[in-house]
Formats: sequence, structure tokens, C-alpha cells
Amino acid sequence: MAKTITIVNQKGGVGKTTTTFNLGACLAQAGKKVLLVDMDQQGNLTYCMGHESPDEVRATIAQLMLQYIAVDEEECRVDDYIFHRNIGNIAMDYMTCNVEMASVETALVNAMQREQILKLILDEVKERYDYILLDCGPSLGLTTMNALVAADSALIPLKAEKLSSLGMELLLKNIMRVKRRLNPSLDIEGILFCAVNKTYNEDIKTVHEVKERFEDAINVYDFVVPALTHVSHSVRDQQPLVVFSESGIKKGESPVADIYNQLAQEVIENE
Ligand SMILES: Nc1ncnc2c1ncn2[C@@H]1O[C@H](COP(=O)(O)OP(=O)(O)OP(=O)(O)O)[C@@H](O)[C@H]1O
Ligand SMILES: [Mg+2]
Repeated sequence: MAKTITIVNQKGGVGKTTTTFNLGACLAQAGKKVLLVDMDQQGNLTYCMGHESPDEVRATIAQLMLQYIAVDEEECRVDDYIFHRNIGNIAMDYMTCNVEMASVETALVNAMQREQILKLILDEVKERYDYILLDCGPSLGLTTMNALVAADSALIPLKAEKLSSLGMELLLKNIMRVKRRLNPSLDIEGILFCAVNKTYNEDIKTVHEVKERFEDAINVYDFVVPALTHVSHSVRDQQPLVVFSESGIKKGESPVADIYNQLAQEVIENE
């Protein structure tokens, strides 16, 4: 049975998609069967998986959720919505998303079992995978709620800046509310600092403040993801960091890939 991890933070641009894409690749490289699910109407993870124009993709998780809401689930074939990509020696399955996810947010409001639709869908394929990673959009709406209900744990990417750490209280409150009311087995996998500028004192100060504030209750990873320009280049080129190369970075030698490999090891050990 897969462990489902939702990568969540209502704050935008904190590294959710980059973390989902690279953690997925590292887990796959470690021999795990991985399904990535894009839950964001921006379709950024869909782009990372090789689709230049996410809005032109037809078989999206948004379409599937709309089908589940509108018709009998027996008529929906989840397999028709699962894509596959090989990148070097890395094989991953994934589900796409695009602007249609905005309609799902509206359709969910009056749907029966509105917080459970994604869980019902993923339950059908869960036994085939070791890990299912959900890349949430920057909101705490009903689609993110669905991701929290479908998940075994929440992984929280965070930027080392004041506004990002301020949003943590709201996020944790929401996660705890979902745990109490809808998904008692939901855990917090950990807080991962992303795009940290290690030469910038303000960044280091924020990392220490957040550690002190939350460390007793929540796992805050000891390692942080440094801010390095080749990370955004790898996203642009739709390549996970473990296989990415450009001038100055040889394939397999990205220091950020090492960090995501450490994260993958911690996730595996945490099972
Ligand atoms: N470690 C890093 N170093 C440099 N740039 C990074 C790093 N991690 C992420 N980025 C860049 O920061 C931007 C935001 O990252 P990402 O898209 O992963 O965030 P997000 O939380 O998914 O955003 P959104 O909330 O819009 O979905 C992207 O352009 C990405 O390439
Ligand atoms: Mg994103």
C-alpha cells in the first residue's frame, strides 16, 4: 500500500512543486514505485513532467474529479488518467492538472463527500505504488482539503522569510482541524526549508526561529535546500536535479540533488 504524502503550503512560491518533482525522482531512483499528482490549477508539476502546455492536456485529475462528482464512480477509469515518464533510469507515473481545477473547486461545494473525492480516486490505485506525492496549489480551499484527507502525511516546504513563517500558524491550524474531523491518521512528515540563501543572515535567523518555535512538536529537517540558480534551470528544462546538467554542473553532481536524496532517505526511514 502506498504512503501518500501531500506537499502543502498556502503560501505561493515556497518550493512545493520543486520538492514534489525532485523528491519523487529521488524515491524512484531508490527503486520505489512513485505516482506524482498535480493538484494545482497552474499545472506547474505537469509542465515539469514534460508537458509544454498543461492547459492543452485533456486527461487531468481535474477532469477525473469532475467525473466523480457528476456521474457514478463505476463509470470512471482511473487508469485512463495516469501518464508515465522515463527520465534516464528514473520511471515515474503521474497525473496532470491545469486551469480546469478552478471548476473543481466550485463543483466540490455541493458534492456528496466533498472532502473525500480525491481519496476515493487514489484508493483505487494505492496498492500499485510505494509513494503517492500530491503537489498542492497555493491555497487552503477544497482541493487542498481533498489532498489533506487523501494523505497519510503532510510535508511543508517553507521559505526562510518572515511572511512565510507567519503563514505556518494558519497552515498547522488547518492540518490539525482536518486531522480531528476528517482524517485522524494524518501526520506531519516535516518542515523543509527551501531556497535558503546561506550567506544571508536574515535567512539563517528565520531558520533558527522556526526551529525553536516548532521543533518540539514537529520534525524540522536539519538540512535545508540552498537557493541556487541551476534549480530553476532544471525546472525550465523539465529535468529532475538528479539527472540535470549544464555548464558548471555535471550530471549527478548537483548539491541540491544531494539534499533531495537526503530527504528521500529520511522519508523512507520514517515509514
Ligand atoms: N532551491 C532553489 N533554488 C533556486 N530557485 C528555486 C529553488 N527552489 C525553487 N526555486 C524556484 O522558485 C520558484 C518557486 O518554486 P516552486 O514552483 O517549486 O514553488 P511552489 O510553492 O510550488 O509555487 P506555487 O505556490 O506557485 O505552486 C520556481 O521558479 C523555482 O524554480
Ligand atoms: Mg507549485
